[in-house]
Amino acid sequence: MTSGLKTLKTQGTMIFMNDTRTTNVEMMLVAGARPNFMKIAPIWRVACQSRNIAARIIHTGQHYDYAMSQSFFDDLELPTPDAFLEAGSGSHAEQTGKIMTAFEQLCTNHQPDWIIVVGDVNSTMACTIVAKKLGIRVAHVEAGLRSRDMAMPEEINRMLTDAICDRFFVTEQSGVDNLLQEGKNPDHIHFVGHVMIDNLFHQLERLETIEASRLSVHGVKRRLDRYIFATLHRPANVDTREALTGIIQAFNTIARDIPIVFPVHPRAQKQIAAFGLELSAHIIQLPPLGFRESLYLWKDAALVMTDSGGLQEETTAIGVPCLTLRFNTERPITLEMGTNKLVGNRKEDILRAAAAVLEPGAGNPSPVNRPPLWDGRAAERICDILADAGGA
Ligand code: UD1
Repeated sequence: MTSGLKTLKTQGTMIFMNDTRTTNVEMMLVAGARPNFMKIAPIWRVACQSRNIAARIIHTGQHYDYAMSQSFFDDLELPTPDAFLEAGSGSHAEQTGKIMTAFEQLCTNHQPDWIIVVGDVNSTMACTIVAKKLGIRVAHVEAGLRSRDMAMPEEINRMLTDAICDRFFVTEQSGVDNLLQEGKNPDHIHFVGHVMIDNLFHQLERLETIEASRLSVHGVKRRLDRYIFATLHRPANVDTREALTGIIQAFNTIARDIPIVFPVHPRAQKQIAAFGLELSAHIIQLPPLGFRESLYLWKDAALVMTDSGGLQEETTAIGVPCLTLRFNTERPITLEMGTNKLVGNRKEDILRAAAAVLEPGAGNPSPVNRPPLWDGRAAERICDILADAGGA
């Protein structure tokens, strides 16, 4: 085994199914943190059915708890990763450095035709830099999104990744516009729709086929008539006392009228404890949920309140009202569609916005107005384009 690098199915060297070159294109799908896993799943599924593409899954280990990682692999029916890089937590520099060192060893042993990175987490940026310096082509899925907020680590990750990658797979028109403004080659920008929405539709269908009582949150949902689903994890919201206190006070007030189901991210959990904040008994605190449990709850919520990027989009795709606890979004299509509203993190603003959504007769218009190309076929488009681009 290569030192510092744990590969699971093979020892040290990655063996692609197509080492005899029966397929055209070898790709590594990189995932590191919770919001990455649902984005690689549809690409993995399409690649498995393709005669032209062989794919391997690389898990950087940025997220490592069962609830933050393995439960997603289980729910999304992803296989055991071909390599697990054990990066773990740490400061941004520590985490990024560990990912880069381990990924470099992996890519030195085996160079695929394409590295596919998704989203905007530290793993996305770290693996892009490593691959490019080794001369391996990189495709970025969810490219071009911009919040213009350089206080967000994700904005830095997005900009650095897009600065050097070779192909841009874009989810909404704003992404195309941003990339063109930044001078990217139009031939390398592909507006393909959204793999996360591919996954959402797939998982909604799967949910129809499984016994709801087998889900750990079934009991919670059954005893609630109407409820809000909330998530919180961004440093700008949870790492400062003022912001987190305002949000929790707003939650406590709203929960007097309508219960809030709140799966608590480890970062938020630590900060709630550190600041000694009390949550109302009407807030149902849960551990971080797997994909399926989470979907089962939020899809029928009267309102979602979140600072997640993905939930803004998933709620838009199926027409659930969403209040985003941020001052900006890199996903403006969700605002244009009318399902999502930016409310920031001040108590009074959150209370006013929640009251407006929850008042009788409010809510989103139906039928759902879905963004262009959010049709469940983004992964097919991506694989077709990469197959056409060919191998080395
Ligand atoms: C990361 C991503 C963020 C994404 C989020 C989803 C970056 C810069 N941030 O933020 O874009 O929206 O994931 O969750 O890449 N921890 C655990 N168990 C784990 C993982 C983390 O307890 O499995 C703890 C860590 O010790 C740390 C905290 O949670 O104290 C935050 O983890 P970290 O990976 O640093 O960032 P996230 O806030 O999760």
